[in-house]
Amino acid sequence: MNDNKKVVLSLVQPSGELTIGNYLGAIKNFKKFQDQYKCYFAVADMHSITVPQVPKDLRRRTKEVLALFLASGLDPEKSTLFIQSQVEEHVQLAWVLDSISYMGQLSRMTQFKQKSQKSEENLNAALFTYPVLMAADILLYQTDLVPVGEDQTQHMELARDLAIRFNHKYSDTFKIPEAFIDKEMGKIYSLKNPEIKMSKSDPDKNSYILLIDDENTIKKKIRGAVTDDCRNFAYSDEQKGLKNLINIYHSFTKKPIDDIVREYSGENYSTFKDDLGIVICENLLPIQKKYNEILSDKNYLEKIYNEGRQKAKYEARKTLSKVYRKVGFLK
Ligand code: TYM
Repeated sequence: MNDNKKVVLSLVQPSGELTIGNYLGAIKNFKKFQDQYKCYFAVADMHSITVPQVPKDLRRRTKEVLALFLASGLDPEKSTLFIQSQVEEHVQLAWVLDSISYMGQLSRMTQFKQKSQKSEENLNAALFTYPVLMAADILLYQTDLVPVGEDQTQHMELARDLAIRFNHKYSDTFKIPEAFIDKEMGKIYSLKNPEIKMSKSDPDKNSYILLIDDENTIKKKIRGAVTDDCRNFAYSDEQKGLKNLINIYHSFTKKPIDDIVREYSGENYSTFKDDLGIVICENLLPIQKKYNEILSDKNYLEKIYNEGRQKAKYEARKTLSKVYRKVGFLK
């Protein structure tokens, strides 16, 4: 690998089944980078235990997310693919970063506020310091660019703040990372309420499409998506439900938005929805097929994450050694 290349990194939690929000907002973008950048993509299993998990399900889903990375076109020859908990340097750096994190800033994190409201009885400290671990994930690899959805903006700002603060306090150590957020796809909205993001934790199963939903389910969910009574096929903030569907169509087909609007103007929404269902299936079914093949080959998956772990550790160690020296830990 060429060391002058810019570094791209992103992680995905294995906390539940992934939705097309995760795919279009983040994973689909990952492979665009792997030819020109030095890429790290990982499964954030340590982040997932900030909410209750069944251990055997967490293990299974960790492998599933890795299989999905591969099925979505990530090439282990080009990108380092690994599991967060297997590279101990992440938590080691997180602890150092904790020491320069302000309680006030962490308590203003929107995701913390939302999640803590949902699960009062399980308010654990990890939920609170979660964004610091995310900053460690990023800063360990001297990352330039982080492809994520819009919901991670605040966490990205924290990562930048911590890098700047550490560099200021101890001398230049970390690169200051930038978020890469797709303008249209950075936030895919719920199919039932276009005011909120599509999320696997939504109690209404019809509000999201899972990457592993079958053909009939996908088509049914799209048919049932909330649109509006305008009967005017337009791409506008007044018609948020339709705008969200057009964005999804655009992302899967790469057709310009203006062309999509022109093509369907005068048509019923249902014609568009039927076509969108077909488009989604055409894109997801081949990924699902590959995903199932990869998942059935346990040895292959194990080989990928073991190799990824070694490569990631090598880089992570370099940064962590510098950090330990600068803060005054003995060698
Ligand atoms: P997570 O696991 O919740 O989501 C994975 C990625 O999917 C994006 N995403 C969406 N994008 C568009 N529309 C949506 N409806 C939608 N829902 C989810 C997320 O923005 C994310 O990019 N904290 C992160 C995981 C993480 C991480 C990191 C990311 C841990 N360490 C370091 C980048 C760098 C998270 O919970 O994402």
